[in-house]
Amino acid sequence: TSNAMWGGRFAAGPDAIMEAINASIGFDKRLAAQDIAGSRAHAAMLAATGIISDSDAEAMREGLLTVLSEIDEGRFEFSTALEDIHMNVEARLKEVIGEPAGRLHTGRSRNDQVATDFKLWVRDQLDAAETGLVALIEALLVQAEAGADWVMPGFTHLQTAQPVTWGHHMMAYVEMFGRDLSRVRDARARMNECPLGAAALAGTSFPIDREMTAQALGFDRPAANSLDAVSDRDFALEFLSAASICAMHLSRFAEELVIWSSAQFRFVVLSDRFSTGSSIMPQKKNPDAAELIRAKIGRIFGANVALMTVMKGLPLAYSKDMQEDKEQVFDAADNLMLALAAMEGMVRDMAPQREALEGAAGAGFSTATDLADWLVRVLGMPFREAHHVTGALVAKAEAKGCDLPELSLAEMQEVHGEITKAVYDVLGVHNSVASRVSYGGTAPEQVRAQIARWKEVLG
Ligand code: ARG
Repeated sequence: TSNAMWGGRFAAGPDAIMEAINASIGFDKRLAAQDIAGSRAHAAMLAATGIISDSDAEAMREGLLTVLSEIDEGRFEFSTALEDIHMNVEARLKEVIGEPAGRLHTGRSRNDQVATDFKLWVRDQLDAAETGLVALIEALLVQAEAGADWVMPGFTHLQTAQPVTWGHHMMAYVEMFGRDLSRVRDARARMNECPLGAAALAGTSFPIDREMTAQALGFDRPAANSLDAVSDRDFALEFLSAASICAMHLSRFAEELVIWSSAQFRFVVLSDRFSTGSSIMPQKKNPDAAELIRAKIGRIFGANVALMTVMKGLPLAYSKDMQEDKEQVFDAADNLMLALAAMEGMVRDMAPQREALEGAAGAGFSTATDLADWLVRVLGMPFREAHHVTGALVAKAEAKGCDLPELSLAEMQEVHGEITKAVYDVLGVHNSVASRVSYGGTAPEQVRAQIARWKEVLG
């Protein structure tokens, strides 16, 4: 038998394979709450504009609430023959309220319906990402504040570069996640236009009130072009691209946590709550949460590329290709929220190891730049020459197998006769970080100023 919703011109029902490739109910049932919210707004508007009777609208309202509770309580039987969430809900509404259900689809199409449902869903995810990011930033601020003046090695090329403060390193991630936060907020502001009422693609001849439905669903305004409204998936792509950048940040941080928690570094101890053991090696405590964050991020990048690829060749307006938008976004959103929560938990629990951090801070001639700067400042040497002299001192220390502050004054003076013992003041890592007071620099006072600024920003 042909489809009850659209089978009027069909003599035969679909092949089983057709049904399998066509149906989206297996995944778009996640849009049930949004679908019913959209239908309720539409029904109320149809009555307010006199397109349907108040009693029909009231029957729809009650019926839709019944269907929603059936779904919420797991009593709803989803049907593949009914393709998707929209037709599943409408068919059940017909069973519950009878004939008035047939008027719900007046002045509406599944094309504007699905765009509306999906936008509502993505909007909730943008809000959830915002909440997750704020919580993560707050956890980082706690860590930054506790160790605002702890020194650690700063790296370039993963080679020791200059000493930095632990607080400064934490605050670098606050800046990254802060940009993610602003991207999420931008995306939300831009996407908040309602597609409902665009109908199939051209609008409708019924005297609908799009302002009313837009407002009822929390949108700022109706989308201005019906062709665009049903074929736009920018909101999903912006979510995925903001999610991808955020995921990239999470992955970089996860990578650092994996390195830092190793026996070779011991910069941080991760909590038992966010680690796992080995079934053979009794001593092991593995940073699995960090590794899984690092790995899951690939799915988010993949979703972004997949949906871009789905959309890139589609002529206006709706094509069924667009049904492939949902699983990608669902999976990316689930994994982003999980990764944000796991990272927040790890950051809250982790114990930075002050002694290990400080011990490593001076290794690898990390204050060589301070020494060169001293030669410039005190001896008036051109920086290029100071760089060369410092290089010779580093080579000397390396040959002797010691760090820069362990060279004697006599040894220093063999390289350059005018060096005085005052030079030792700048070779210590604490003096080094304390001296870097330029705006945004690693000096504890700068770090504390940034922590204060962020606390104010977050309120
Ligand atoms: N299940 C469809 C989707 O997810 C709903 C829209 C179907 N529209 C249509 N004209 N067949 O995109």
